Amino acid sequence: MKKPYTLPSSSFIPHLLSFIILSMPTPRPLDPESKPDDRVDNALRPQKLADLIGQDQVKENLSILISAAKKRGEALDHVLFYGPPGLGKTTLAHVVANEMGVNVKVTAGPAIERAGDLAAILTNLRQGDVLFIDEIHRLGRAVEEVLYPAMEDFSLDIVIGKGPSARSIRLKLPRFTVVGATTRLALVTAPLRARFGAVYRLDYYDLEAMRQIVRRAAGMLKVQADESGVGEVARRARGTPRIALRLLRRVRDYAQVRADGVITQAVAREALDLLQVDPLGLDDVDRRVLRTIIEKYGGGPVGLNTIAASISEEQDTIMDVVEPYLLQLGFLDRTPQGRVATKSAYEHLGLEWREEGQPRLL
Ligand SMILES: Nc1ncnc2c1ncn2[C@@H]1O[C@H](COP(=O)(O)OP(=O)(O)O)[C@@H](O)[C@H]1O
Ligand SMILES: [Mg+2]
Repeated sequence: MKKPYTLPSSSFIPHLLSFIILSMPTPRPLDPESKPDDRVDNALRPQKLADLIGQDQVKENLSILISAAKKRGEALDHVLFYGPPGLGKTTLAHVVANEMGVNVKVTAGPAIERAGDLAAILTNLRQGDVLFIDEIHRLGRAVEEVLYPAMEDFSLDIVIGKGPSARSIRLKLPRFTVVGATTRLALVTAPLRARFGAVYRLDYYDLEAMRQIVRRAAGMLKVQADESGVGEVARRARGTPRIALRLLRRVRDYAQVRADGVITQAVAREALDLLQVDPLGLDDVDRRVLRTIIEKYGGGPVGLNTIAASISEEQDTIMDVVEPYLLQLGFLDRTPQGRVATKSAYEHLGLEWREEGQPRLL
């Protein structure tokens, strides 16, 4: 058996090294928002539909949409992806452009401040190009007004001059494709949403897909991991590829410093326990949300803003990141009066659940 490399355990240096690495202030390991550290992931980004793991329904629908557009020799219809962060919206936008064989121009809702900024972007597009607008729910009203006719009629109205002599001219734009991404479909205005020919929801990945993603990434990062190690990382990554890749890197660090570099189940467990990521992929913030509902508000119902204030977390984080996963696990119920912790949540936290103790929901 060839080992990648072994650190002599008697030496002081590895201990010092492990101390430094493990005591570095780690940001929340389960934060699915992209971090500077995640930039290496870009090398791991699947380029083609066939490289994408999971999301079978989205893939199949997209492949039909793309083949049909290609057959007709037309630009692709506008496409909107929505779902929690880290599930592959940006990846899919690039995959769409790659499959169509066109250029992609990347921007984001908050980056386009004025209508003129959008006009500048639009007039630089070429036939068939993809304009990827991330966080499209954060576009300003005035900017959206320019986007509507551009998406619908591929035209741009420009006002020249001021006052009584001002006149408006209409510019023709090449046929292009907007690919939008958002974590909050509800905040996308109805008229904007109506201009997308296809709207796809991305869901958390199932365990098998997560295993494949971890296995593939381990291969590409040249990290040795056995099947049970892969499974452990996959299970704790809350169905989110971005988190899986980040946990894999942290577990690799741990394996290299504390073990012989190979990710086994035991190594993955120890590393992830140390990061306070529990076996179901909950982190400290998730647990604080549940504990607050249970211990401060008798299990609920309680409003999201109240929960956020109680634990000093941003409401957006709870809405986009914490709540969807807890709902998916069946740890939370959403009622008109607020959020309610379920029996499984009590059990997971090792707290006693009493039927009669629960507030009645009328
Ligand atoms: N279906 C997938 N298969 C493999 N890797 C994926 C998949 N979806 C996402 N990833 C990986 O996860 C990371 C995060 O994806 P990204 O597209 O940036 O998410 P989002 O834009 O939804 O926040 C990317 O670096 C990518 O490598
Ligand atoms: Mg993204």
